Amino acid sequence: MKIPVAILGATGSVGQYFISLLENHPWFEIKALFASKSYDTYAATWRATLPRPNWLNDATVTNTQVDKIIKSGARIVFSALPGELAGSIESALQSKGIAVFSNASAHRMDGDVPIIIPEINSDHFSLQTGKKGILIANSNCTTAGLVMGLAPLMPLGIKSVRLATYQALSGAGYPGVPSMDILGNVIPHIGGEEEKIETESRKILGNLENGSINPLNADIQASVFRVAVANGHMESIFVELDTTISASDLQSLYKNFEIPEVVSSLPSTPFATFKIFDHPSRPQPIKDCMEGKGMTVSIGSLKARGTSVSMKLLVNNVIRGAAGGSVQNAELALQKGLIKQ
Ligand SMILES: NC(=O)c1ccc[n+]([C@@H]2O[C@H](COP(=O)([O-])OP(=O)(O)OC[C@H]3O[C@@H](n4cnc5c(N)ncnc54)[C@H](OP(=O)(O)O)[C@@H]3O)[C@@H](O)[C@H]2O)c1
Repeated sequence: MKIPVAILGATGSVGQYFISLLENHPWFEIKALFASKSYDTYAATWRATLPRPNWLNDATVTNTQVDKIIKSGARIVFSALPGELAGSIESALQSKGIAVFSNASAHRMDGDVPIIIPEINSDHFSLQTGKKGILIANSNCTTAGLVMGLAPLMPLGIKSVRLATYQALSGAGYPGVPSMDILGNVIPHIGGEEEKIETESRKILGNLENGSINPLNADIQASVFRVAVANGHMESIFVELDTTISASDLQSLYKNFEIPEVVSSLPSTPFATFKIFDHPSRPQPIKDCMEGKGMTVSIGSLKARGTSVSMKLLVNNVIRGAAGGSVQNAELALQKGLIKQ
């Protein structure tokens, strides 16, 4: 029997992707949808690029209240709530024994809440050992791409990282940035984003020591921009390593990057972790965002010069960086026995 799940923020940018990705999921079944108000039918305009299930025409959306979520019978909750709202609701659900997978920033930097990227740090799940329910965070969407791009370089020692990002409009939720502000324009500011990228990356790439995470000791600095692109964040990344690497060894590191066996067999794990482009005009959001059903991270212009490495990376912000990453986290938690069957 499939495990009943609920989606919070089900009408939003990320919530709609949750609905699509969980439709026909082999292990999970959508039991209830929650948003800011109650709707007799799913009134939201569908904006996701994935198909909209027909049953949504008659689906009820319920006002987000903890007792109603518990009553729905969901044993897993996927949260796509605004950060300021998510904190208390997610904690309350966890304390009632629910497994919560959150996209919100509220708990990401809590000492006992891991930010999981299954390909990189599944051992961090142990921060939640012994709790009644579990609370697992997703990283910020840009961070999800960055840490994937850095992971193959970890054995060489990462001294510092500098990146500039070109972030899609869907990353700001709906309705997001007013059209008059963004059309024909680039906005060099996204509130709190640069700090989130820097701290979350160091936490994800950190080591688990005596029950807590020792963040990666690297100097990470980000400079972010909002651009008039619908989906897909681009990142221009420069890394300074402890050791030198040749161009051919660098290519091999990405092509032969190994992920844990349990992760490779999850339904949401893409066949290819990375798509490495040789042509300098790729990746592009419009062409490459759906690589690996939105879960593969695309990399172009991968270059090595002494101890310096640079790349141009594309991450699907709403799938790999949000809903898809959360669903993959829940699959891994289930495989690791962290969710009661
Ligand atoms: N978009 C991305 O690429 C992305 C990536 C990673 C993480 N995140 C995070 O994921 C979360 C959701 O982002 P989003 O882009 O999907 O935002 P969004 O499009 O603005 O959607 C917000 C959702 O939350 C609901 N909501 C708003 N106020 C509420 C309230 N007072 N009570 C209950 N529900 C409420 C909305 O319901 P109504 O429609 O009924 O108002 C809507 O379903 C945020 O924490 C965001 O930081 C987003």
